[in-house]
Amino acid sequence: MTRDHDAPEREAADDEQTRPARPDGGADADSAAGADDVALDPWGSSTIADYRKLFEEFGIGEFDDVLAEVPNPHYLMRRGVIFGHRDYEPVAEALREGEEAAVLSGFMPTGDPHIGHKLVFDEIIWHQEQGADAYGLIADLEAHSARGMSWEEIDEHARDYLLSLLALGFDPEEGELYRQSENRELQDLAFELGSKANFSEFQGIYGFDGETNVSHMQSVVTQMADILYPQLDEPKPTVIPVGPDQDPHVRFARDLAARMRFFGVTEAYASFELDDAERALVGAVYEKRDEYAEEPDRPRCEEAGAWLAELDDADLDELGVVVDDRVRESAVEKLDNGGMEPLRPRVRFLDLNATDEAFESLVEAIDGEKRRYDEHVDAFDLDPEAAGELAREVELDHGGYGFVPPSSIYHRFMTGLTGGKMSSSIPASHISLLDDPEEGYDKVKAATTGGRDTAEEQRELGGKADECPVYELYAYLLAGDDDEFAKEVYDECVGGERLCGGCKEQAAELMREFLEDHQEKREEVEALLEDLDISLTSSRRGVAPGDD
Ligand code: TRP
Ligand code: SF4
Repeated sequence: MTRDHDAPEREAADDEQTRPARPDGGADADSAAGADDVALDPWGSSTIADYRKLFEEFGIGEFDDVLAEVPNPHYLMRRGVIFGHRDYEPVAEALREGEEAAVLSGFMPTGDPHIGHKLVFDEIIWHQEQGADAYGLIADLEAHSARGMSWEEIDEHARDYLLSLLALGFDPEEGELYRQSENRELQDLAFELGSKANFSEFQGIYGFDGETNVSHMQSVVTQMADILYPQLDEPKPTVIPVGPDQDPHVRFARDLAARMRFFGVTEAYASFELDDAERALVGAVYEKRDEYAEEPDRPRCEEAGAWLAELDDADLDELGVVVDDRVRESAVEKLDNGGMEPLRPRVRFLDLNATDEAFESLVEAIDGEKRRYDEHVDAFDLDPEAAGELAREVELDHGGYGFVPPSSIYHRFMTGLTGGKMSSSIPASHISLLDDPEEGYDKVKAATTGGRDTAEEQRELGGKADECPVYELYAYLLAGDDDEFAKEVYDECVGGERLCGGCKEQAAELMREFLEDHQEKREEVEALLEDLDISLTSSRRGVAPGDD
């Protein structure tokens, strides 16, 4: 990364980008894992050195893979600023088909809203425009318990977040805004979800320990409730647009959503249980029944087990499933124990949280052949999708939530104008949505660039737009929906036709215009805000914040 607080530009000693940035106002210690680890810590200071690792290590999907399924994709999607997702397909499908969907994100009111938050505001608003129910929340319980903010400070910042969200186009008549502390339904849901979560998970997921204050833990179940809140009326695909640091929360919420379900639906081949890997293997073995079954329409478990035990590596490869020795051994053992029981595909409904009546209703509602056990019921004439729908229907009829696992999309963190991570606590690193337009202009003019040492060099080699915070400003914000303009800046930069001085001047002017316009709109929506059903002064003022 190159820096050029003032021209002429000079190369910085090494690549700052992989260094940990300053904590974003957080009180947590640096993670011991080290700077280059991709530790996803919602309260930590992680910069993401290598986005690819998120795909490999955490199972986040590449957004590009779903882009084609998204109707009128937002420019942040088209430009790869939104780079990752978890299970976004159902949301994209709902938007395409005009079916129910929801979007929700939350903001910790710990400082001024800045242009990094604008990404999330835009994501919420875009989903709302595509027809999703939209929710924006103020995470005041989290700010108080995890960041030590007083209620007075929280109120001041909360107002600013809400004004910016409205000014950018959030429609409060169609959508809902709330603060965690004042939402009783949310608190009730948090309490219910808390009964499915335990302390060792908090330790494992968030590194909480004996020193962590209890309200901080409560703010976690509150966030879990936030994420599922749009589904309180009815289950629907819901997307949570956030930075990748929030992924642990998303994964945990997906887990809790599943744990709350009345029934688990899986596929099975016989009366005994299989784990996912065993199931895939036994499924493949079932497909080969012609090769070992005396009566091919009635393959026996023990026949399948014996055949599987004899396969060599080449045969196993041919099955087309990933098999390790442990999986194979355990599958063989289970099949052997099954003896003469026929191997038959079926869907299985496991009783997780169902009342007796709900279980009875489910059994009754299953069409075709079924077999009932103590804790589960097998259905032989249902496909898994129909089974999933049936399970949800019965759950809803009996007072359950029937949650759909929440989805997420992840945007890149903006680079700070001074290099490193954009941080609320370093004013020169970010542009606040409340910055005086002239100050915004000045900050852009003073920003680090991806430019070369001298103009000649720049003409010869081109600038490094990919490492330039100023180019990011164009791509993330200043070029707006105009892809051609963004591309022109990029091409001219890397082609050596664009020099940093003029480029920054243009960006600085656009930033000034943006801030003027945004702040004018903020004033216009003041009245709207006063009319909303959201409290702007906490009833808890005077209560001291938490401090871990
Ligand atoms: N934890 C989030 C943050 O640090 C704020 C937040 C609270 C949130 N509840 C949420 C984000 C629900 C997304 C969805 O900024
Ligand atoms: Fe310089 Fe603009 Fe290129 Fe950045 S994008 S390196 S500021 S010319």
